[in-house]
Amino acid sequence: MSAFIEIQNAHKNYGTGDAVVHALDGVDFALDQGKICVILGPSGSGKSTLLNMIGGLDSLDEGTIVVDGEEITGLSKKKLTEYRLNKIGFVFQFYNLIPDLTIRENVEVVAEIVKHPLDIDEVLAALEIDSLRDRFPVELSGGQQQRASIARAMVKKPKLLLCDELTGALDTRASRQVLRFIEKINAQYHTTTMIITHNEAIAQMADTIVRIKDGKIDSQTENDRKKSAEDIEL
Ligand SMILES: Nc1ncnc2c1ncn2[C@@H]1O[C@H](COP(=O)(O)OP(=O)(O)O)[C@@H](O)[C@H]1O
Ligand SMILES: [Mg+2]
Repeated sequence: MSAFIEIQNAHKNYGTGDAVVHALDGVDFALDQGKICVILGPSGSGKSTLLNMIGGLDSLDEGTIVVDGEEITGLSKKKLTEYRLNKIGFVFQFYNLIPDLTIRENVEVVAEIVKHPLDIDEVLAALEIDSLRDRFPVELSGGQQQRASIARAMVKKPKLLLCDELTGALDTRASRQVLRFIEKINAQYHTTTMIITHNEAIAQMADTIVRIKDGKIDSQTENDRKKSAEDIEL
């Protein structure tokens, strides 16, 4: 059986001539369905570029990306939008909630446009933000806003959840709580999950740990001492 994500010889340059940056410089990568993968690496090493390519936010110069049996490199703009909309949940460092919608409405706008949404109230309950449903983002703490943005990503029932520095703006307590929800979602829905982080400790909760350096995969290891988010030393 083939892997859920398969990347071959991925290249992406930004800029030209003397100013060219090899953001991805020949990446080969595979990940099985249902895994939690943590991506580590110095700033500027190509982590976000890699995640954005997998999520169909940007396109490669060379190479192929296959997700869930579908080659996304070479999809038409329309097909790529459908792919992003129905298969991918994104969570970023800054929550990007719509300020003049309530928490429930923020989740609702996504539920309304996807093919197979989960029940909104079930998702709010799973993230333990149901009591905050009628509040506006500005009335929530950072951790609560991040849980709302995870709810918004999850209501699509995405097959792949992509998280870029999702705890980057949170304190230890809120980080742990957000990571516990990521773990719970992964267990409950078997959502394949990729987490970019600067925090080495988060790798302890991964099935697979990837290190990126200078646009290349430096190492990919299976974690045989996987810990729950509750027990990692953040
Ligand atoms: N849209 C862009 N335009 C120009 N350069 C970019 C762009 N996106 C990323 N880069 C460059 O590509 C390299 C990798 O960036 P990025 O993937 O964001 O790294 P990381 O997420 O590991 O910090 C960096 O040198 C960055 O400056
Ligand atoms: Mg980045």
